[in-house]
Amino acid sequence: MKFRPIERAGNCLRLIDQTRLPGELVFNEYDNHQDIIEAIKRLEVRGAPAIGISAAYALAIAAGRLSETEFSNEEVRRLGEEIKAARPTAVNLFWAIDRLLRLLPENSDGGQREVVPLLWQEAERIHEEDLLMCRRIGENGADLIASGDGILTHCNAGALATGGIGTALAIMYICHEQGKKIRVYADETRPLLQGARLTAWELGQAGIDCTLICDNAAAVLMAQGKINHVIVGADRIADNGDAANKIGTYGVAVLARAHDIPFYVAAPMTTFDSGTESGQGIEIEQRSATEITEGFGVRTAPEGQKVYAPAFDVTPNGLITGFITDQGIRPGGRTA
Ligand code: MRU
Repeated sequence: MKFRPIERAGNCLRLIDQTRLPGELVFNEYDNHQDIIEAIKRLEVRGAPAIGISAAYALAIAAGRLSETEFSNEEVRRLGEEIKAARPTAVNLFWAIDRLLRLLPENSDGGQREVVPLLWQEAERIHEEDLLMCRRIGENGADLIASGDGILTHCNAGALATGGIGTALAIMYICHEQGKKIRVYADETRPLLQGARLTAWELGQAGIDCTLICDNAAAVLMAQGKINHVIVGADRIADNGDAANKIGTYGVAVLARAHDIPFYVAAPMTTFDSGTESGQGIEIEQRSATEITEGFGVRTAPEGQKVYAPAFDVTPNGLITGFITDQGIRPGGRTA
């Protein structure tokens, strides 16, 4: 990538405002956690690993702003809970905050602010580790792809969604580096168009052959034999392998099985949540109805229209061929 979507800037966090892409490349700098929470909620920064990294920096910033008298473990934990409430589905958010909170000294009387540089260091470590995990995911997944293959992806699981080159898209970047000629098909991803605005933009910047399709065109492409693999990201993978990802992913998985096309979920180990038994236990974020009725400022439904707007769905493990992780490829539950 020619730029870093998430970057520490002194005691601030600098983020690409993803809501402005692809039209404008705008960076915003934040010096307080409340504004970062708002940035996460309004999808200025989005994608499970990127949310986790930003949340970790948000907690370091928030703890750093507490005076010696305000500072206590309890207060830092409270701030952590406040940040965790930004979005409910991506487990990386909770994982990252808990990792920082574990650094708070158990029994310390005074001088507790000394933990602040450690919180910054840990946030940076989470960021750097994610960068490495993305590359490993890319390398592991690239082994599955042959030159000439067509790959369908949904939403954006790319550099914009992580601290590195992405998860699903990392595989495409590595294939490109290896000189494989791949054809990527990007679902536009209704209603907020992460596929059209972000995936198509990112792959275009890298010179990777990408064709944008409306979500409803996936079945036809599969029937035409243009898709050899489906590769998507995940926001949380339950202990039984059920995987939450952007709304519409489940439908793509059903289509992939109907056309006998392998369906892979690419994710770092930080997206696996052994504490959630199955997909039923994953909280699915509900978004505002206006994202469907008047997305991007144009009203496309009657005033007062009743709407159902889940941000994610859960693909059952039985529809997943395999999980491409930084630690290798794990089999999914799909047998045919
Ligand atoms: O609502 P979003 O844009 O945060 O949803 C993002 C996704 O569903 C991604 O596919 C997922 O977080 C994986 S990102 C590597």
